[in-house]
Amino acid sequence: MRNTLFTAPDVQRGIYVNGLAGIRPLIPTDPDALEAAARRRMSPEAYAYIAGGAGTGLTMTANRRGFDPHQLVPRMLRDVSVRDYSTSLLGMNLPLPLLLAPIGVLEMVHPAGDLPVARAAASLGIPMIFSNQASVPMETCAAEMGDSPRWFQLYWSKSDELVVSLVQRAERAGCRAIVVTLDTTLLGWRTRDLDLGYLPFLQGRGIAQYVADPVFRRLMEQPEPALPGRNVTFQAIRALIGLTRRFPGSFWGNLRSGAPLTAVRKFISLYSRPSLTWDDLAFLRAHTRLPVLLKGILHPDDARRALDAGMDGIIVSNHGGRQVDGALGAIEALPGVVAAVAGRVPVLMDSGIRTGADMLKALALGASAVCLGRPYVYALALAGQAGVVAALQHLAADFELAMALTGCAGIREISPDLLHRRAGQ
Ligand code: FNR
Repeated sequence: MRNTLFTAPDVQRGIYVNGLAGIRPLIPTDPDALEAAARRRMSPEAYAYIAGGAGTGLTMTANRRGFDPHQLVPRMLRDVSVRDYSTSLLGMNLPLPLLLAPIGVLEMVHPAGDLPVARAAASLGIPMIFSNQASVPMETCAAEMGDSPRWFQLYWSKSDELVVSLVQRAERAGCRAIVVTLDTTLLGWRTRDLDLGYLPFLQGRGIAQYVADPVFRRLMEQPEPALPGRNVTFQAIRALIGLTRRFPGSFWGNLRSGAPLTAVRKFISLYSRPSLTWDDLAFLRAHTRLPVLLKGILHPDDARRALDAGMDGIIVSNHGGRQVDGALGAIEALPGVVAAVAGRVPVLMDSGIRTGADMLKALALGASAVCLGRPYVYALALAGQAGVVAALQHLAADFELAMALTGCAGIREISPDLLHRRAGQ
């Protein structure tokens, strides 16, 4: 059965009435408190991987601070008694202009990985973008989602055959768009992970889309050389056992065949293609009938090139500040991209969305919808599927109030007029 996105007053009432009985909300409504609570539940490695960014974290700061100069100007005496914040995007009807950003390796915070997120998203009709680095194969998640919308995010690997296979699987799994993430042709310099010496993929985490793929399985038949410089320590043996246990199939069979290690090595050698250029996009265009969106665009000229390449949408994003330290905040990049695109395709905004006001500001600056990232992972860590549902309901309620209290009864009423740019910014 589909949960409803309760109206904001219902959500508030539920929380306050529970408060009378001494019951606190399932997860904190304040985004910083949510992160702090989740941190206490997570291993240091998981927290570092999820919360961390590139270098000194300047881009993550820019993603948040970038909202500040844009101030909302609420308008009065507009009838907002009947509110409808549904919208349509690439032929899909959404209950609100929100999607779940693709986030890999969710098994780090929940044993069932992506599944509780897929169930939560489907229960609310909010689209989930399956990550190429998911912990659960897309087919398994899709099977839990009925006809609820999902998209697939692609990392363009060194094997075009694998790219085609992933995209075809996404089509068969009922995904309604392909998102190509462009900003991760190499892994950013992530100091928190480096200082812990921790990369989940080496433990066989976050490679479920690959090991479930027939082309990848075939490619595994040409094994890669061992990774250099590993010492046989207690930790290394433990990691090998964990990897072998997590791999599909029987533990002893996996240990004998060495398939888990072979898969990790193959993944490392294939996962991204730094040689990718604009010309390659025609290949993808020719291999799918789904709309293709580019994620990671920050420069207006790149947005124009995306249009020239026949892309169907753009996601303005800096990968949550995980790739380039000192990059501009995504919200700062949004107006330039919106102007370059001039309404020809939808522009989505991702990186730094935490509140309903953030959503409203992004929409007022011309975004068609936004993607929610880390907060849903924190909610998953704290309370599984129910936590993700709560996080989405909190954000939806916050958005509803931001809209209603600035005088907008529907998405169409949002305009740049709602924003004031703080002097000197
Ligand atoms: C990501 N992101 C990401 N993006 C993508 O295209 N494919 C992926 O597999 C992942 N994996 C991933 C893991 C983790 C732990 C994080 C935090 C992020 C980036 C993600 O889609 C999104 O761009 C950011 O999360 C947005 O930043 P905020 O709003 O979460 O800070």
